[in-house]
Amino acid sequence: MTSQKNEIQPETTELLDQIVALDTELAKDFKTQFSVAPFLSRKVVSFQGNKGEPAYSWYKYKEAFSAGLVEYFLCSYGGKISGKVLDPFAGIGTTLFAASSQGISADGVELLPIGQEIIRTRLLSERELTSHDIVTLEHWIASLPWKESPKRVPFSTIRITENAYPPETIEAIERYRGALQQENEKIQAILRLALLCVLESVSYTQKDGQYLRWDARSGKRRPGTKVFNKGEIFAFDTAITAKLKEVLWDIRDVQMPVTLFPAKRSVKDIRLFEGSCLEVLPTLETAAYAAVITSPPYCNRYDYTRTYALELAMLELTQAEVSHLRQEMLSCTVENREKDLLKICPQWVSFIEVVNQQKLLQAINSYLQHEKTAGTLNNNGIPRMVRGYFSEMACIIGECARVLKPNARLFMVNDNVRYAGVSISVDMILSDIARSVGFEVEKILVVPGKKGNSSQQMGTYGRVPLRKCVYVWRKR
Ligand SMILES: C[S@@+](CC[C@H](N)C(=O)[O-])C[C@H]1O[C@@H](n2cnc3c(N)ncnc32)[C@H](O)[C@@H]1O
Repeated sequence: MTSQKNEIQPETTELLDQIVALDTELAKDFKTQFSVAPFLSRKVVSFQGNKGEPAYSWYKYKEAFSAGLVEYFLCSYGGKISGKVLDPFAGIGTTLFAASSQGISADGVELLPIGQEIIRTRLLSERELTSHDIVTLEHWIASLPWKESPKRVPFSTIRITENAYPPETIEAIERYRGALQQENEKIQAILRLALLCVLESVSYTQKDGQYLRWDARSGKRRPGTKVFNKGEIFAFDTAITAKLKEVLWDIRDVQMPVTLFPAKRSVKDIRLFEGSCLEVLPTLETAAYAAVITSPPYCNRYDYTRTYALELAMLELTQAEVSHLRQEMLSCTVENREKDLLKICPQWVSFIEVVNQQKLLQAINSYLQHEKTAGTLNNNGIPRMVRGYFSEMACIIGECARVLKPNARLFMVNDNVRYAGVSISVDMILSDIARSVGFEVEKILVVPGKKGNSSQQMGTYGRVPLRKCVYVWRKR
């Protein structure tokens, strides 16, 4: 049965009323924990806060938060954290590097190869480069050796990255890849990092949440989308030279104080686990961490494997590997299939039970399922995605509680979302789950200024503000 748009069935109204009632009840319950935090500007909780920050701004990872935010949490809750910090969704390593620079050891887990590559190479750049390596990099900036390179090393593409660059850019990238093979492994890593950092700017594409947008000059256009012009598409030589200069400048900046004042070196160990936190967390020691500072993917349908497809293809992932990776990621896209969480860890049965008992979430699940049956969802994968997101997050939160020391805190940046006209209070649902798996909810800090909805949602249901928050939970 398909209902007409805007013609609301009585059963739908009943389900919506139930959601509103449960949401209001939970809001009353968390009333004292909610507070608007003026110091949490949009800039601080996003990548924008890293603009101009040495090394943090090399690779524009739109999903990152700022180093300043991490530093704040490391120092502002009951004095400086002593002990190791964990980030189960490490991204490009903001938590890890910010903690390390404060003299705090940090462990991170990251599944996306681009994030892993950035973290590994940044570590290498800070700790392993010699003055001879620096001279080699200076030579690359001054002489552009790839231009004369007779050797071209082609790179592979996957379906969505075909024809992503102008022909002269493809040739330049191939020569660059050929020339860098003459160098030692450390230099190769830095040169590869710089290449990854400029791919978007020399391509016809622009990252845009769920998709890559294609500039009209590519000759490609997604059906039903407007003609798009991304602005300047940079020549490869210009982009790569500017990036190498920036990287080298920052490397010198980091290395200088160490060279002049070796005793002052306070950076601490960083350990990266390359894989899914669903697999890695159960292997970590109990009560080993003094804090978790993290931001998971939001439940917003953003597909990292599409947004970062240019980089994944350059890192030589095949189509099949990218598809597999999409399924391994935390469920937040309509394509994610259900994961067998109990196969990963049979002990998680208690966390799944907590999810099944969370009334607001169950009401939302029933509503979304009902709307799916009625044919009113714009994608039938939405109910499965929402169910998967909260089940997986419950297991991750439960594991975080286990690996934290008593009284240690977990800080999490996350956004509420909206589907089929219903606002999903991710903040309250996750906080409620957290208190059932071993945390006390200390605060739900609301970022001032509310975020709108996707244009699709706004067209259908009007603009309803959604909260962006930082949750502060303490292990009981
Ligand atoms: C919001 S971003 C975190 C960014 C990070 N705070 C930073 O500043 O770079 C979420 C990260 O979780 C990663 N991720 C998604 N699913 C994962 C999983 N199952 N295990 C580990 N990492 C995962 C994504 O690749 C992404 O880098």
